[in-house]
Formats: sequence, structure tokens, C-alpha cells
Amino acid sequence: MRIGVIGCGTISRIYLKNLANFPGTELVMVSDLDGERARRRSEEFGVPWVESPEACLLSNDVDLIVNLTIPEAHSEVSLAALSAGKHVYSEKPLAMNTVQGREILEMAQQKGLMAGAAPDTFMGAGLQKCRELIDAGAIGRPVSFTGTMLSRGPERWHPNPFIFYRQGAGPLYDLGPYYLTTIVALLGSVAQVSSMTSKNFSHRVAGHRDIQGQHIPVEIPTHVMAHLALESGLIGSLTTSFDVAFTEIPRLEIYGTEGTLSCPDPNTFGGPVRLRTIGEDEWQDIPIFSTYSVNSRGLGVWDMAESIERGWETRANGQQAYHVLEIMEGILTAGETKQQVTIESRAKRPRAGVPV
Ligand SMILES: NC(=O)c1ccc[n+]([C@@H]2O[C@H](COP(=O)([O-])OP(=O)(O)OC[C@H]3O[C@@H](n4cnc5c(N)ncnc54)[C@H](O)[C@@H]3O)[C@@H](O)[C@H]2O)c1
Repeated sequence: MRIGVIGCGTISRIYLKNLANFPGTELVMVSDLDGERARRRSEEFGVPWVESPEACLLSNDVDLIVNLTIPEAHSEVSLAALSAGKHVYSEKPLAMNTVQGREILEMAQQKGLMAGAAPDTFMGAGLQKCRELIDAGAIGRPVSFTGTMLSRGPERWHPNPFIFYRQGAGPLYDLGPYYLTTIVALLGSVAQVSSMTSKNFSHRVAGHRDIQGQHIPVEIPTHVMAHLALESGLIGSLTTSFDVAFTEIPRLEIYGTEGTLSCPDPNTFGGPVRLRTIGEDEWQDIPIFSTYSVNSRGLGVWDMAESIERGWETRANGQQAYHVLEIMEGILTAGETKQQVTIESRAKRPRAGVPV
């Protein structure tokens, strides 16, 4: 599968490193609205660059576009890729809202192309070990979960922190996809949500040397506490925050009738995975799979390429990303309206196993 990358910012580095090494993916060109950024990545990774994203979209040498632009541009770039006849894999979120998300799914279907989206961490060594344990009944029947992503936000180090405090980002849209995709992949679809939200700082202060001291307006809630009811009847909670300095709370725990599974940070590919069942005095450290335990971003692109080749269902697929988008939108709506919100879409649990 010949890949063209659109968007050569911070996250492109790890994608370019990994996509050059996965079997079955060939990097053919990189591009960016800012040609200088594309040229820099081209020099760094030895991949040709083209002057504009349009040149990448029109190239006959590209089969699949990897969309690593900012959230506001995701749907425009993904739709342009599909209308140019290319499969597309986008960074998260799939789009800014479900209206745009539906357009992407509909166009992919019309054109007979794949549209998928990050995150792909749920395919990594740590979270796939959790999937294996849950499916094997290690904690009995799952009854609940607690997800907590508490941080002070990325403005101290990120060169473009403004995007994180606008629509389409914030703690829920920026980091929620890792937690929600993991919950959906491990436990199933979400049917209903409720939430309370707050914004504890009117502006944030940039720390990166190029923009140090600049004020960043905050347009979205930065502390979001949600309750989720899954289709199976299981209920759980998810808190995402850019307002918390320190925490000792685990990132994700899944509770079952026979024990508790302590999952790794859903924004990572590795461990630790810890299990404690009723009758045991201590937590057990569970060995994880040996492959894809380090930062393997792009695994979802490789899985998409492989799935197209073999006629399989892509795991980081558009329907799953759309479901996660609808859950996030529902959580913010529930916070605003103080009403529970019903989630209409569903996602199939993706097939299990670490890619080989
Ligand atoms: N930075 C991280 O640690 C990180 C981690 C995981 C995922 N992500 C996701 O990756 C995406 C990119 O994040 P980033 O941190 O690399 O941002 P960034 O601002 O560093 O880079 C984005 C790049 O996209 C380019 N761009 C913007 N609009 C474009 C358009 N319409 N066409 C072509 N290029 C365009 C910009 O010029 C820029 O080079 C976001 O969706 C983010 O949520 C980022």
C-alpha cells in the first residue's frame, strides 16, 4: 500500500519512523500546507516531499492518505482524499462533529474506499493482553470500569498548543478517544451518557520557547466527568481533565464479578497489566505480548493496508471512530443540557490479537 502523508507537524515524526518499517506499507511522499515543514520531514526521513497537499491527493503513486493535520482540518482533508479515490486514515478525532463524521463514512461507502482513524493503541501489546484476559473470563463477567485522564494540559511543551483549547480538542476530544476506543474495543458499544463539565482557567500560558508567555484562549470545558452505560448494561465512568496538577489514580480499571484488571495507560502500546482475583492476596503482574509494546503509532494504518489486501474488517475503522465521536459529542451535550444523552451508533468489537 503506497502511502502519502498530509500534515508534517509534531506527531508525523513517529508515523514516518514506523510506517517506513511496517511490512506492507511504503511511504511515497509527504506534504503540508506549510511546504517548509514537509521539506524538513523529507530530509529527516528520506521520503520525497511535494509542494502542496493537492499534489499528494492527485498523485497516481498514492493509494492511501494518512491525515495528520489539526482536528479542524481532519474532515476536509479526509473528504478530499476519498473524492480523489484514495483510502484514508486520519489522526483522532475522526472529525469535529458527527455531521462531518457521517459525511466521511457516507463518502467512503459510496466510493468503496476505507476510512479509518486513530487511536490504534488498543491494538498494542498491553491492551491486547487485557482483551485476552477479559475474553478468557479472568475477571469473571465485567460489571464496571473507571477511566481517569488527569493532567495539566500540553501547553508547556507543545509548539502549537492553541489547537488543544479550541472546539474539536480539549481533554475529552484530545485524549478521550484513547480511553473510549479502548472501552469500546474491550467491552462493547456505549448506549447512554451523562456528564458534568467545568472550565477552571480563562486562558492558558504557552511554555514552548518559540511562543513562551503567549496567552491561549480556552473555548471548551477542560474538566469533564462522564458516566457511561454500555449496550450490555454495564456502567462506568470517565474523567478527562487538563486542570489537574498531580494524581495517583490509575488510568483505567475494569471490574468484574471475580476480580479487577488494572489496564495500562490507553495512550500507550505497552504495559503494565495487573490482575487481582477474589481469593488472591496480591496483584499479579501479567506479562504482555512481546511485539508492539513501544510507541507503534501507525499500526492502524498497517492494519488497514493488510485488511484491504485480505478483505478483512479494518480494526481502527471509521464506524468505531464515529461511535467514539458520537459518545464525546453526547458527553458535552449532556454537560450543557444536564440531561442524559442516548447514543444512536454502535461499533463492533474489533477482532482480537496483536498484529503479526
Ligand atoms: N502531538 C501529539 O503528541 C499527538 C499525539 C497523538 C495524536 N495527535 C494528533 O495528531 C494531529 C496533529 O497533531 P500535531 O501535534 O502533529 O499538530 P501540529 O500542529 O504540530 O501539526 C499539524 C500539521 O498539519 C498542517 N496542516 C494544518 N492544516 C492543514 C491542511 N488543511 N492541509 C495540510 N496540512 C495542514 C500544519 O501546517 C502542521 O504542520 C492532531 O489531530 C492531534 O490530535 C497528536
